[in-house]
Amino acid sequence: MKVLIVYYSMYGHVHRMAEAVAEGAKEIKGSEVEMRRVPETLPQDVLAQMGALEAQKSFSKIPLCTVEELASADAIVFGTPTRFGNMCGQMRQFLDATGQLWAQGALVGKVGSVFTSTATQHGGQESTILSFHITLLHQGFVIVGLPYSFQGQMRVDEITGGSPYGASTIVGGQGERMPSDNELAAARFQGKHVATIAAKLAK
Ligand SMILES: Cc1cc2nc3c(=O)[nH]c(=O)nc-3n(C[C@H](O)[C@H](O)[C@H](O)COP(=O)(O)O)c2cc1C
Repeated sequence: MKVLIVYYSMYGHVHRMAEAVAEGAKEIKGSEVEMRRVPETLPQDVLAQMGALEAQKSFSKIPLCTVEELASADAIVFGTPTRFGNMCGQMRQFLDATGQLWAQGALVGKVGSVFTSTATQHGGQESTILSFHITLLHQGFVIVGLPYSFQGQMRVDEITGGSPYGASTIVGGQGERMPSDNELAAARFQGKHVATIAAKLAK
């Protein structure tokens, strides 16, 4: 049972969450878990101006995803930073190259799930995840979120991401905040939950 974690990260926050999703998915016996980045679309000089080069170097060893390998997975967990309340352009471009898979019905019945990050607490985490789900539904994915059995999403004693739609992290206006323990626990829970359901469907 193969779980792919496919993500884009500019400054490392989604990357850290992706690692936690992978940890959770690996807890399920028989799961083969792979992390993949979607290709960059911005030129190097723009990335340099955005201060992203140093952060991106630290996870450049993660292989790039090909559209074809999506078809080999039983479950795919997508991670994207929020851009104006939506998924980032890099992810959009990657998904827009999956028309052939759509034509073949190659992704129908696979488990799909989404996690995200924003700068601000109400900057569009839920809209990013829910609007991402539209694409997954067109491709025939069985959508899995982050159920309330992950009790950490009920917390009000500290600022935290996480909703029934999926794990998330709040990074701050300058990206100064890395995912908290609670947000990482949400990501691990989501990874494990996705792998559990994929294993049941694979039977
Ligand atoms: C063009 C652009 C649009 C953004 N839009 C939003 C937004 O709508 N809401 C928000 O809270 N943060 C927004 N952000 C901040 C990013 O979501 C934040 O940098 C990202 O979640 C950090 O994750 P990463 O380190 O994995 O790249 C935006 C950033 C950029 C560059």
